[in-house]
Amino acid sequence: MNARSGQLHSAMAPERQMENHMTSFAPGDGAALRSAFGRFGTGVTVVTTQTDGGPIGMTANSFSSVSLEPALVLWSAALRSKRHDAFTKTRHFCIHVLAADQQDVAYHFASQGHDFTRFDWADGPNGAPEISGVLAQFHCDTFAVHPAGDHSLIIGQITHASERSGAGDGLMFDRGRFGTFTAIDAPA
Ligand SMILES: Cc1cc2nc3c(=O)[nH]c(=O)nc-3n(C[C@H](O)[C@H](O)[C@H](O)COP(=O)(O)O)c2cc1C
Repeated sequence: MNARSGQLHSAMAPERQMENHMTSFAPGDGAALRSAFGRFGTGVTVVTTQTDGGPIGMTANSFSSVSLEPALVLWSAALRSKRHDAFTKTRHFCIHVLAADQQDVAYHFASQGHDFTRFDWADGPNGAPEISGVLAQFHCDTFAVHPAGDHSLIIGQITHASERSGAGDGLMFDRGRFGTFTAIDAPA
């Protein structure tokens, strides 16, 4: 729909136009906004750090790469999370990109953050725990923490990075469901 005139200029077949119907909502409608955000499929990460009380982890899909030079990544932590302060105050953390067979890891660190006994892990190069079996790891120094509404944006500068050699599908998250990625052919 053209925003100014409201007139539809469409190259789509009529049946596709029906599928493409959009429902508008006010950005203050939290449930609708959450649902629309959920249309953006992502990978799944677990972020870990070391605290005086032991290691903690948190499942997060807000991860994004930011910069190659310097090497920066970001993720956002909800203010309401009991784990928020540990992650905004730490000087080091590690982001793990989960593999397709690590749904149990994602569920575990979504429900609680302190129990690492079910997983193989080791102290990483900057002290943050390193969980085994992932596709990629980014060990970070905390570069900046910015308030952002009901979340904090946490930017990390990568000090050590690693990627699993060979094949390995990622765990994906879309509309509240875990899944895997299916490639489609590029247009001819
Ligand atoms: C797939 C998935 C992605 C999530 N991504 C985030 C995220 O990016 N940021 C965040 O604060 N919480 C995220 N959560 C929620 C946290 O993992 C965790 O459930 C929440 O912080 C619970 O807080 P608690 O520390 O109070 O138990 C995600 C949960 C799931 C299942």
